[in-house]
Amino acid sequence: FLKTSSLLIAGLVLAACGKQEAAAPAASAAAPSAPPPAAAAKVYVVGTDAAYAPFESQNEKGEIVGFDIDVVSAVAKKAGIEVKFVNTPWEGIFNNLAQGDRDLLVSAITITDERKQTMDFSAPYFDAQQLIAVKADSKIAKFDDLKKLKVGVQTGTTGDEVVSKLIGKTSTAVKRFESTPLALKELESGGVDAVVADNGVVIHYVANNTGAQFKTVADASFTPEQYGLAVKKGNAELLEKINKGLADIKADGTYDKIYTQYFGAAPAAAVK
Ligand code: ARG
Repeated sequence: FLKTSSLLIAGLVLAACGKQEAAAPAASAAAPSAPPPAAAAKVYVVGTDAAYAPFESQNEKGEIVGFDIDVVSAVAKKAGIEVKFVNTPWEGIFNNLAQGDRDLLVSAITITDERKQTMDFSAPYFDAQQLIAVKADSKIAKFDDLKKLKVGVQTGTTGDEVVSKLIGKTSTAVKRFESTPLALKELESGGVDAVVADNGVVIHYVANNTGAQFKTVADASFTPEQYGLAVKKGNAELLEKINKGLADIKADGTYDKIYTQYFGAAPAAAVK
């Protein structure tokens, strides 16, 4: 009896093993619906010169924050893509894009015909204009008054372009700085008589640095500018995703919400 039962047990064990073996291929045959582990989602690297509050700056924790960051994060969410922001000096930023070190740029970048030759822009997402910052007691009342003075700009910006046109590209009276805050510091210490930069940044700086005693001077000769997100020339695939996401956040109120959060009022109709 013992012999018989042990044989029976052995037989049962063998049968169970056989069953398991047979079951294994069936289980793996059901697996193909799961994503292959190698296909990790692409993380798009976004370059930004984070010294341009309120558009992009670094907070106390070193995190990159601002209007541009919130806009791109919202766009990415709609587009179903993952993004990572990397602080990138303005002076090399367009090269970084051309060389593929960055997939996308958000940096309060004005869409210009010249830049369009070397990169592709999204639909515009912000209206801007140049604005002059001077000391509160300055007699400067219009852009033309800067002709014979020392003027600070951030190198290679649209502010640099207009001032170079007024004073002369090679004139030593045009003082070029690596960042806009550095130019404004120089105005505070008296090294330059004025700074010309984007209105949003100048207004933000003057309001948040009351000790500097600045005022702003507007001038009707400054032409309207619009910011765009930039991709490498020919990267139609990413540009399409970005434009779709941008259209979505403009349509569903997300854009307005972000805008109001930073600028206190609803945006002008032009960018919508
Ligand atoms: N809008 C200006 C331009 O495109 C200045 C942009 C500077 N942006 C920055 N993050 N520093 O030339």
